[in-house]
Amino acid sequence: MGQVISVVSGKGGTGKTSFCAGVAVALCALGEKVLLIDADCGIRSLDIVLGMSDSLLFSYGDVIRKRCSLKEAAVKHPIVKNLRVLTSPVSIKDGLGFTFDEIGSLLKRAREHFTYVLIDCPAGFGGEIMNFALQSDMAVVISTPDHTSLRGAQKIGAQMAEGGLENIKIAVNRVRAGMINSGDSVDIDAAMDASNLSLLGVIPEDKDVIACGNLGRVLVLFSHGYARVAYANIARRLRGARVRLLSGVKLRR
Ligand SMILES: Nc1ncnc2c1ncn2[C@@H]1O[C@H](COP(=O)(O)OP(=O)(O)OP(=O)(O)O)[C@@H](O)[C@H]1O
Ligand SMILES: [Mg+2]
Repeated sequence: MGQVISVVSGKGGTGKTSFCAGVAVALCALGEKVLLIDADCGIRSLDIVLGMSDSLLFSYGDVIRKRCSLKEAAVKHPIVKNLRVLTSPVSIKDGLGFTFDEIGSLLKRAREHFTYVLIDCPAGFGGEIMNFALQSDMAVVISTPDHTSLRGAQKIGAQMAEGGLENIKIAVNRVRAGMINSGDSVDIDAAMDASNLSLLGVIPEDKDVIACGNLGRVLVLFSHGYARVAYANIARRLRGARVRLLSGVKLRR
């Protein structure tokens, strides 16, 4: 049975979608079969970041409503072998209101066919987020190293723990060494303290993430930057390998 991982944040724009795309591709490179679910109903974006805007016809809503099968709706990535993407309904009106059990049965089917299922959730507590997250095996909270984002991370982590989810970790994104050294940014230990979560990984600020996201390019194929290495390290940690925190990664100054 596959592992389901919800990727969440307290505040918006912290890097969830970029993380999902980067880590999913890295997991595929390690031989895993990965399903990416865009749960950001109404403002989906994984399709843009992965260059698949024209190919995603059906959504997870269509699968739940039995308008198509999971296999039909989960579209193969044009380049990355073993990666499929299941998008969210286009409109909030059409996409919200599924029950806990309906989402649970979708995830059950996904677990049967894939070794990893990554869910790109909307920011905060909106949408179907709790229905997805509380039926996952793990939640990864993405935060930038600043106090407002970390407060959001702490709040959503606490909410999920209250809901009964045990495995909740933080990934600190857009980290810049120079700003940490000059005291202008929160350091990683302080980020863990502020969020009250244990650390899955650190992703440096890297302009390749922005460029690839805008162009719908797979980071692994177009970048030799440190974010790419950081996503690969995180993928290996998810599979149980012990990888040093900044192995091969240099934080931008
Ligand atoms: N490590 C990084 N270095 C540089 N830019 C980054 C990094 N991670 C994400 N970004 C950029 O930050 C912006 C927001 O990223 P992304 O869309 O992944 O965030 P999100 O959490 O999914 O946002 P939302 O809450 O709106 O869904 C994008 O322009 C993206 O390219
Ligand atoms: Mg997003």
